[in-house]
Amino acid sequence: MSNLDIAYLRSNFPMLNKRMHGRPLIYFDSAATTHKPKCVIDEMNNFYRNSYATVHRAVYELAAEATSLYETSRQKIQKFINAAHFEEVIFTKGTTESINLVASSFGRSFFNQGDEILICETEHHSNIVPWQLICAQTGAVIKVIPCNMDGEVDLDIISKMISDKSRIIAIAHIANTTGTVHPIKEITALAHEYGVKVLVDAAQSISHIKIDVQDLDVDFLAFSGHKAYGPTGIGILYGKKALLEVIPPYQGGGDMVDKVEFISTTYQKPPLKFEAGTPLIQQAIGLGNAIDFIESIGLDNIAAWENQLLSYATSRMKEVKGLKIIGNAKEKGAIVSFIIEGVHPLDLGTMLSLKGVAIRTGHLCAQPALKKFSVTSLARVSFGIYNTMEEIDNFIELLEEVLLLLRPPMSY
Ligand SMILES: Cc1ncc(COP(=O)(O)O)c(C=O)c1O
Repeated sequence: MSNLDIAYLRSNFPMLNKRMHGRPLIYFDSAATTHKPKCVIDEMNNFYRNSYATVHRAVYELAAEATSLYETSRQKIQKFINAAHFEEVIFTKGTTESINLVASSFGRSFFNQGDEILICETEHHSNIVPWQLICAQTGAVIKVIPCNMDGEVDLDIISKMISDKSRIIAIAHIANTTGTVHPIKEITALAHEYGVKVLVDAAQSISHIKIDVQDLDVDFLAFSGHKAYGPTGIGILYGKKALLEVIPPYQGGGDMVDKVEFISTTYQKPPLKFEAGTPLIQQAIGLGNAIDFIESIGLDNIAAWENQLLSYATSRMKEVKGLKIIGNAKEKGAIVSFIIEGVHPLDLGTMLSLKGVAIRTGHLCAQPALKKFSVTSLARVSFGIYNTMEEIDNFIELLEEVLLLLRPPMSY
């Protein structure tokens, strides 16, 4: 069924041994954050125990060692996303900070009154609010690309929405509510015909499908380490070198400067121009280890296994009376959002938690997306490489048990 030894893979994740309320943990919230393999935990520990020092600014040997580990991690990420230059890989705190960086720095340089930013109807709040903030400063406006009721966008609609006022399309690679995989390569080709830049929010795709930034030809790409088996507090902004060279810094401070005088300051070249202050050294190294882990499995193998999990979960969930899946795109990531007639998602999430099952409930940081589907709250299961078909079967059994309590047969 799969080339992967899932039992062995699972044994790499200490958290998966955890029991909740006397039962094995069923962790179905990898779209929020993934658990960490031992190799990441151990290497991060090892760094603090054996190699810790600051980076870039000191001449002593330990600092050189820490710098080398930090910069090696940048090179691993460069290779992982096939960026043409290491300077195009900037360490940030996560997807949210990466998008804020672009909205702020690119926006300050390129947005004028009435300019347009195109975002999709199902974006995560972190790909909406940063654009609203820069709109308030520059007079630019947001235009919303609609999706259909399956969660898919239409290239013809996007083409009609692009105007000579359009500056950037900012869109998720995989929507965190519907799970839709958006056709990024086609969107980028279309945008570039009109000189419009493209930012891709790859938070939900980076550890699930192979990303080649040169093939996709995206201008910016953002993702978080913690959704890719790495630590929290670290993320990446990829930006084309030519663009990073012309946009202003995001924050000021140590490490990002060349010459500082009270009158004026000159800056380092990218990537350091965008990495003010002592960086997240241990986290950056941990992310490099997480990339090693993903590459040791192979993204093609990961995608194949997660597709099997997705289709099995989808078919099993469709058997549950009153359950409606939100997001039925042809191309989907390993995410299934749903509602169940007569049951509030928060009650469902709470009851399942008592049975050791972790699912996400609520607005999923995408309130406009929920409005589109006329719901105020969703339940969502999402998978990582460590999930199994048995867990899906157990989940369905526990879901039916919980539904008997929340929705007694008499009342339904
Ligand atoms: C599609 C999408 N974009 C952005 C984010 C924000 O990521 P972070 O909180 O790690 O910055 C998330 C997190 O759930 C997401 O799913």
